[in-house]
Amino acid sequence: MKILFSTGKGGVGKSTMAAAAAWQLSRDQRVLIISLDPAHNLGDIFGVTLAGGRKRFSANLHLGEVDLQQLSKEYLKREIDVLSGSYKYLQTLNLDNYFSVLKYSPGIEEYALLTSIEATIRNEEDYDIIIFDTPPTGLTLRFLALPRVTITWIDRLIQIRRKILEKRYTIQKIRGNPEEGTLDSGIILNYNEDDDDILRRLRVLKTNYETLTSILEGRDCAIFVVFNPDLLSLRESQRLVEGLHELHLPLRLMINNKVTTDNEAMADHVEKTMLRRAEHIPVERIALHRELQSRDATKLYEIEEDIASPLLFILNNAR
Ligand SMILES: Nc1ncnc2c1ncn2[C@@H]1O[C@H](COP(=O)(O)OP(=O)(O)O)[C@@H](O)[C@H]1O
Ligand SMILES: [Mg+2]
Repeated sequence: MKILFSTGKGGVGKSTMAAAAAWQLSRDQRVLIISLDPAHNLGDIFGVTLAGGRKRFSANLHLGEVDLQQLSKEYLKREIDVLSGSYKYLQTLNLDNYFSVLKYSPGIEEYALLTSIEATIRNEEDYDIIIFDTPPTGLTLRFLALPRVTITWIDRLIQIRRKILEKRYTIQKIRGNPEEGTLDSGIILNYNEDDDDILRRLRVLKTNYETLTSILEGRDCAIFVVFNPDLLSLRESQRLVEGLHELHLPLRLMINNKVTTDNEAMADHVEKTMLRRAEHIPVERIALHRELQSRDATKLYEIEEDIASPLLFILNNAR
């Protein structure tokens, strides 16, 4: 299975390009396109209502939308359930208060998005290609950075947990074995690494994030950045490209969208500047299709330029 991410500044045509790519690729591939942007417009582009769900658009093309608020809520609930299950003895500490403010803590949306991407990749094996239409740059870079950040944290937590178990072992040795009658009654805390639920969960989490990292950084994943012939979108694309580079994530195609005869000089300038940051990355030019923009003809996914072939070429030849 191949994975594509459409990225770029708001309004440059991320969703439109992702939709056009999905439509073209679905001619001979099974394609799922999912909008991760809270400001959804994927449904509008295809003229259907998605409302946070999935729909079959054609035999080979399915559309989906992620409801970020709902996702964050579910994510939080799952984590809280795990926490209260693992730390039953903390219930006396009135954790409810703590949980009720957790929803305001930074990072929840990013984790919720990442969890949903991970689940989609894991569960949707029937598709040849999954295309993710991403939220604005800042949020996108943050959730793409999460797997690596999280692995660093988990390693640290594993170390701390092992120290705790070591201390427990020491305490247990000092106290003696209760069955031998040397000890007053009391709780025996487990100190065996193999029996420790928390350590086990940390290791599972670590494996999941490592798998995700290797998928995102691997040959079957391609990120494309969409920009327009204007300086604002140029600046933001430059930041995006730098961010992706730092995160070791594969930018594989640039799309210079909404080019007209009037803005051709600017289109050249923007393209040249981008190529200085991202050498050897192919650039596709897409014209501004005014004729496809009219209100009743929501047919922008039918643009005539070929986006599928360069994407397939990239995906099949990535090293
Ligand atoms: N090549 C194009 N020709 C004409 N209109 C376009 C083109 N690409 C995008 N648009 C229009 O630009 C606007 C923003 O596009 P959209 O795909 O929603 O951007 P994003 O997802 O990046 O916010 C929409 O009104 C869309 O119809
Ligand atoms: Mg969009």
